[in-house]
Amino acid sequence: MVHSHVDCFCFTRILLLYSLFVLAFAEAPYNFCSNTTIGSPIQYNLNNLFLSLHSNASVSNFYYTSIGNGPDRLFGLYMCLDYVTNVSCQDCITMASTDLTKLCPEAREAVMWEELCEVRYSYKDFYGQYMLNVTGNLFTDINMMNISEPEQYRSIVNDTLGDLTKQAAFGSLANMYATGEVPFIDRTIYALVQCSGNLSAEDCNSCLHIAITEILTCCYSAIGARVMGTSCYLRYEVYPFYGDALAPPKNLIAGSGGRKKWMIIILTIVSVCLAIALLGYCVYCHVNNKRTQKRRKDMKDQESPNISLTSICEATNNFSESNKLGQGGFGSVYKGLLSDGKEVAVKRLSRSSEQGLREFTTEVQLIKKLQHKNLVRLWGFCVKGDEKLFVYEYMPNNSLDVFLFDPKKRVQLNWSRRLSIISGIARGVLCLHEDSRLRVIHRDLKASNVLLDHDMNPKISDFGMAKIFEGNQSESTTGIIVGT
Ligand SMILES: *[C@@H]1O[C@H](CO)[C@@H](O)[C@H](O)[C@H]1NC(C)=O
Ligand SMILES: *[C@@H]1O[C@H](CO)[C@@H](O)[C@H](O)[C@H]1NC(C)=O
Ligand SMILES: *[C@@H]1O[C@H](CO)[C@@H](O)[C@H](O)[C@H]1NC(C)=O
Ligand SMILES: *[C@@H]1O[C@H](CO)[C@@H](O)[C@H](O)[C@H]1NC(C)=O
Ligand SMILES: *[C@@H]1O[C@H](CO)[C@@H](O)[C@H](O)[C@H]1NC(C)=O
Ligand SMILES: *[C@@H]1O[C@H](CO)[C@@H](O)[C@H](O)[C@H]1NC(C)=O
Ligand SMILES: *[C@@H]1O[C@H](CO)[C@@H](O)[C@H](O)[C@H]1NC(C)=O
Ligand SMILES: *[C@@H]1O[C@H](CO)[C@@H](O)[C@H](O)[C@H]1NC(C)=O
Ligand SMILES: *[C@@H]1O[C@H](CO)[C@@H](O)[C@H](O)[C@H]1NC(C)=O
Ligand SMILES: *[C@@H]1O[C@H](CO)[C@@H](O)[C@H](O)[C@H]1NC(C)=O
Ligand SMILES: *[C@@H]1O[C@H](CO)[C@@H](O)[C@H](O)[C@H]1NC(C)=O
Ligand SMILES: *[C@@H]1O[C@H](CO)[C@@H](O)[C@H](O)[C@H]1NC(C)=O
Repeated sequence: MVHSHVDCFCFTRILLLYSLFVLAFAEAPYNFCSNTTIGSPIQYNLNNLFLSLHSNASVSNFYYTSIGNGPDRLFGLYMCLDYVTNVSCQDCITMASTDLTKLCPEAREAVMWEELCEVRYSYKDFYGQYMLNVTGNLFTDINMMNISEPEQYRSIVNDTLGDLTKQAAFGSLANMYATGEVPFIDRTIYALVQCSGNLSAEDCNSCLHIAITEILTCCYSAIGARVMGTSCYLRYEVYPFYGDALAPPKNLIAGSGGRKKWMIIILTIVSVCLAIALLGYCVYCHVNNKRTQKRRKDMKDQESPNISLTSICEATNNFSESNKLGQGGFGSVYKGLLSDGKEVAVKRLSRSSEQGLREFTTEVQLIKKLQHKNLVRLWGFCVKGDEKLFVYEYMPNNSLDVFLFDPKKRVQLNWSRRLSIISGIARGVLCLHEDSRLRVIHRDLKASNVLLDHDMNPKISDFGMAKIFEGNQSESTTGIIVGT
């Protein structure tokens, strides 16, 4: 049997780092969804459309089709970058369709750019029509590494992309696609332009010219960048990213190109480390389990409810649906108005919830003692019969996951906001770990447990899984694997 000693602080720092990573990289694929929605017959057509696109990807890198009749008709296309093999193209379309279903549920019109392909559909026929963007969405992505001679570099990039555009639109092949390689000091610039098939040469030309202007504006001094428009695509890097699609050299991937791949690698490594750490932690901790249980029992004795069930019922209109803010595995959250006019959020644990009396007690004991601007504030609680209720301060801006995983709301989180949210979470965790009399390991830190107040300050919530350390205790054990 393994008998390892795991330093809890080290362990939680890994956890914190991990969540910061997830937060910083939680930028999903590039997509636009219209906010008008479709009914179920169209949904049926949409599923068939995806199937049809997918099956055609085995023979062509571009396909346009329509499914259905009359008002339920849907038009769709996919475009894989020209260098992509038909197998990868098909994979990419599968991924795009899945992402569209997830990110744009029921949208009547949507565009999705993945690493190697675009999938787009609409209730309007857009055959051969040029459109750089759909309602202003033009996606750009940059490789964050900077070049040392930006002016010179920019002008060469401009010239190269200009030449390729001419080739793609008006060249002898006129196949709406061109790549080129140009030396720059000690490096080579690799560039690619492509229009979605069935555009006229003039439209292809203007689409790419707008994209070039965009890339020179947005991504000034970046070593590599790309623009993903609805009807055209361009990209440049200092490593070959097309053809045999070599993996980008290690020293050139600060952003963009290999980002998704690297993100996956990093997350995998961190996850594996976490799993190993957790395992060691659990095995070691099993030994001390009895002591922990005894302490829990002591805590149960101190507990005493202090808000009446009646006043909570009044505050939440008897837990009416209209007051419901959300639902989780643990139960539901309701908005309430206390008789003194205070807005609160009431967490009502479901009867079948895994959070039993023990977790409830942990949470109450804990939050009562913890006060910090990045930790959610408990106003009161109540246990009566089967009912277990928490009354928290009300957070008007919901939780972080609501912003991160919603394509429209995500835009409101610019980098300075993200940074301030990350620092806030870190301060909250620091308080838990070091600044209070107790040392608290949250063990379930995730975006849905980070609430946002009206100024978008983060507040850590949900201490049901937390573990408390007393005084200078620096190690502990547990028999149960919990949390995220
Ligand atoms: C869709 O969004 C536009 C602006 O983004 C807005 O003007 C319009 O009211 C929205 N429509 C619906 C049905 O929400
Ligand atoms: C392409 O899709 C159409 C339907 O839009 C279908 O009839 C055709 O068989 C597909 N082609 C291939 C090669 O699967
Ligand atoms: C892939 O596309 C090529 C033509 O580009 C075709 O010859 C080949 O049969 C396709 N492969 C499959 C598996 O359909
Ligand atoms: C699109 O392709 C069709 C043939 O597949 C052709 O008749 C039509 O003119 C093309 N449209 C444009 C804008 O190139
Ligand atoms: C993108 O769409 C928006 C809204 O329709 C429009 O104002 C803007 O000019 C478009 N941009 C380009 C480059 O076509
Ligand atoms: C790249 O340059 C931009 C502006 O010139 C600057 O804001 C940014 O910090 C630089 N990035 C790196 C990684 O040096
Ligand atoms: C890019 O090149 C075009 C000519 O192809 C030129 O008109 C334009 O001014 C150049 N833009 C920049 C920012 O260098
Ligand atoms: C809540 O329910 C109780 C009895 O079940 C009822 O007397 C009371 O009027 C209800 N209050 C509201 C606000 O619906
Ligand atoms: C209930 O207890 C909490 C935490 O100790 C306290 O902040 C709150 O004021 C109390 N509420 C009432 C109604 O006594
Ligand atoms: C980020 O968004 C906030 C609020 O909308 C705004 O005050 C701030 O200037 C933005 N920062 C940047 C760098 O755009
Ligand atoms: C956060 O909530 C406040 C108050 O309800 C609101 O004014 C603000 O617009 C919200 N911020 C965001 C980004 O939704
Ligand atoms: C914890 O503190 C006590 C005194 O408060 C001390 O006797 C004990 O050695 C400390 N234990 C550790 C592991 O530092």
